[in-house]
Amino acid sequence: MNPKRIKKILQKYYEMDHHYEDGKVLGSMYTYLPEIVLDTFIKFYQANLGNEGMYPGTKRMEEKVVKFLLTLSSAKASLFEKKFFGHIVSGGTEANITALWIARNMGFNRILTTKDAHFSIRKAANILNIPLEEISMNTGKMDIGDLESKIRDGDIVVATAGTTPLGIVDPIKEIGEICNLYDCFMHVDAAFGGFVIPFLRELGYMDVKFGFDVPEVMSLTIDPHKMGMAPYPAGAILMRGNLFKYIEVDAPYLVRGKNASLLGTRQSGSVAAAYASILYFGWNGYREIVKRCMENMHYAIRRIQEEGFEIFIKPELNILNIKLKNPSRTKREFLKRGWSVSINPSYGTMRIVFMPHVTTRVIENFLKVLKNIEKS
Ligand SMILES: Cc1ncc(COP(=O)(O)O)c(C=O)c1O
Repeated sequence: MNPKRIKKILQKYYEMDHHYEDGKVLGSMYTYLPEIVLDTFIKFYQANLGNEGMYPGTKRMEEKVVKFLLTLSSAKASLFEKKFFGHIVSGGTEANITALWIARNMGFNRILTTKDAHFSIRKAANILNIPLEEISMNTGKMDIGDLESKIRDGDIVVATAGTTPLGIVDPIKEIGEICNLYDCFMHVDAAFGGFVIPFLRELGYMDVKFGFDVPEVMSLTIDPHKMGMAPYPAGAILMRGNLFKYIEVDAPYLVRGKNASLLGTRQSGSVAAAYASILYFGWNGYREIVKRCMENMHYAIRRIQEEGFEIFIKPELNILNIKLKNPSRTKREFLKRGWSVSINPSYGTMRIVFMPHVTTRVIENFLKVLKNIEKS
């Protein structure tokens, strides 16, 4: 077939998908990206850091991205080379599995986490055959009392900095203090919050620790392909110490002869693109994005309440939940009207992630549809 005809065929499928530009996507943690970032993805799309010896340039960019992520995670810059290590991986799921795989190989043998921890933690427990015990929650946060009563030597405690359903930050510092009393491995899943909390602190919205400035934190997930404005697949796993040796295997056919990641071949155009995004936005640019998302969320809170709807739990990050009588029905009705929305059935809410494409105009349109559905 000639390219023109192929394009025509593909266009049909493209039009079936949702696009951020259409103003009807409310539940996604991804958004549209600047052209330079996408151009970089295409330029480096052949790079494969699974065979890093062949791509020393892309490897250097990975190191630069990891450095930026370590800064976001409050690792001490002077210790980057010796004390902290990181890999760009395919996403939060792979990052969480990698952390728990390492912890298991170090001899830790039970996971403690909350119901709102991302489902990738349960996947990891299942794949790695590690038992998982739930710690109860208090207004969306891990309950310190329950943790204290259940924790024992050998546990892996998984805290979340920005939970998927509610965007709530577990009390990382207090959890660390408890872990300190036991021989535990503490992992923080900041897949979403890692690119948000540092800027919320600068903007005066919150003042919490979530990263390596909590001495017990051994590993941390932080995803460029969420609020880091990088294209998929770009998650990251950061480690205190070179713990990757616990999962390293011989790979004689590769240039380096060793491999220490879950995936073999890995798409690395996204690593270059994550670096382009860091160059494009810089620290201040990311802070501006977070500021705009928070302002749009606060506009939405005011308007949602004016229209007589109730906000569920005070949001900490740019994730908002609206209490609804029948969220599953509301979701169905939104889907019928061409929207992509997300609900939390266990909380009886609809969830909006305030990514840059969720503007005040999008919120006004959403409210019109919501009122219509709830009245019918
Ligand atoms: C807190 C958290 N951790 C992990 C993940 C999984 O990330 P991914 O979908 O990139 O594998 C998500 C995804 O939403 C998340 O919100």
